[in-house]
Amino acid sequence: MQAERRAEQPHAPDSARILILDYGSQYTQLIARRVREAGVYSEIHAHDVSASTIMAFGASGIILSGGPESVGGDEAPAVSDAVIASGVPVLGICYGMQALAAKLGGVVRGSDHREFGYAEVEVAEGNPLLHGLVGAGEWLKVWMSHGDRVEQLPPGFEPIAASKNAPLAGMADESRHLYGLQFHPEVTHTEHGQRIIEHFVHDICGCPSTWTPENIIAEHIERVRRDVGSERVLLGLSGGVDSSVVAALLNAAIGDQLICVFVDNGLLRLNEGDQVMDTFHAHLGVNVVRVNAEREFLDALEGVADPEEKRKIIGGKFIDVFEAQAEKLEGIRWLAQGTIYPDVIESAGAATGKAHVIKSHHNVGGLPDRMHLELIEPLRDLFKDEVRKIGVELGLPRELVGRHPFPGPGLGVRILGPVRKEYADLLRRADDIFIGELRAQGLYDEVSQAFVVFMPVKSVGVMGDGRRYDYVVALRAVETIDFMTARWAHLPYEFLDHVSRRIINEIPGISRVTYDISGKPPATIEWE
Ligand code: XMP
Repeated sequence: MQAERRAEQPHAPDSARILILDYGSQYTQLIARRVREAGVYSEIHAHDVSASTIMAFGASGIILSGGPESVGGDEAPAVSDAVIASGVPVLGICYGMQALAAKLGGVVRGSDHREFGYAEVEVAEGNPLLHGLVGAGEWLKVWMSHGDRVEQLPPGFEPIAASKNAPLAGMADESRHLYGLQFHPEVTHTEHGQRIIEHFVHDICGCPSTWTPENIIAEHIERVRRDVGSERVLLGLSGGVDSSVVAALLNAAIGDQLICVFVDNGLLRLNEGDQVMDTFHAHLGVNVVRVNAEREFLDALEGVADPEEKRKIIGGKFIDVFEAQAEKLEGIRWLAQGTIYPDVIESAGAATGKAHVIKSHHNVGGLPDRMHLELIEPLRDLFKDEVRKIGVELGLPRELVGRHPFPGPGLGVRILGPVRKEYADLLRRADDIFIGELRAQGLYDEVSQAFVVFMPVKSVGVMGDGRRYDYVVALRAVETIDFMTARWAHLPYEFLDHVSRRIINEIPGISRVTYDISGKPPATIEWE
């Protein structure tokens, strides 16, 4: 009923929205992403936000995340009255289910049978959350992670799922549209997890799939135009995914009012500066000023071996160069930045969501204040996969939006010890061969980040009849989801062999290639 009533109304892309209250689970961000993948806007807020914030949010449904606490504990965060009073459908996941049960008069207890990992649950048909997922007699494979469990349902609830260790692994009060799941539908290990999320947001909350790339772009364009009016906006374009998408979006929104400054610091990848100019200036018609500052950066870095010192110098120099350039431009009121949603929630701590965080590695931390500019962050509410999708929709090459992350200090952290132009030139060429081969062999998207590291030590080799002492490089390729932990990519030996031969044969000056087989932890991804 609800679905039909709401679907008839025209929707702005985010007028149907899901509020996610965070109880501290490592999976909270995943819940938000899954809801958005279902085409519905979602936002994460702390579990203890005020009642007025909950009401003002105007949610079509509320999801309570999992969390590390125990419902019986002294500090156990509870479900706020406003959640129930809002009258919209509620789905509690794991701790969220337990807290919901406790709130409404059920009984929750610690259990001797801690369940972690795969479990099978028998699901009840005939309820809108879990219907039609498995055939008759089949059980659903789900991902569990809990100690406590619901022992007695609150009045008005029916069980809708049962596992061996948790006979009440799911509950529903359909008259009030209140649901709970002991397992995690947001985790890909849960079979049909995405469909469960879709059942909740589409069928139970009545949200249509309006959060699509086209709609996101249209809405963000409108928002930017409303914010900046006829004023001019400055953007530091790095060639990375986020600032590139900001450039494309602002270009679509305000055209010539956008001025991008691209600083070539001499620590970029091979031909990167030309590619950025080609994509943005030649193809998209974006206003881009290119500043060639290689000399300035390399002079400032001369003889500096300490990595943190190098980072500081590169960051500081960037501000100097960027600011000097900006001063030449007339009438700028705004500074744009490529902050994205995970930057906001991670840096602020998922459970607070309050701080207005500036992306530190863009090296422009203090700039807006110093330059008396207003900050505009048009991607602030988007996840990386959404940023990529709208980038493609805005006409950016797939290759660009699918790029691995590249550190702000660039090759400065990939040359061990003091940076010299000679080293940077050798490294650029080796890196280009490695990355080019990964792309050519279809391996680029299989790894999360790949690059070459330069070691300023010489090692012996034989070329023809002579011995030569030349530099050593290391190839690094990792697989990771969050870059906090990573495993080294098990690239095929033949592939590594081919890359190694090409580097040594084609680049005079490099005589030895190694492959880094360290995981993170204990090693980091970058070498410095
Ligand atoms: P680590 O080396 O800490 O890297 O395992 C994790 C991720 O962060 C990137 N990284 C940086 N990015 N400025 C950046 O913008 C930096 O100074 C920096 N150091 C590391 C690294 O490339 C990886 O993706």
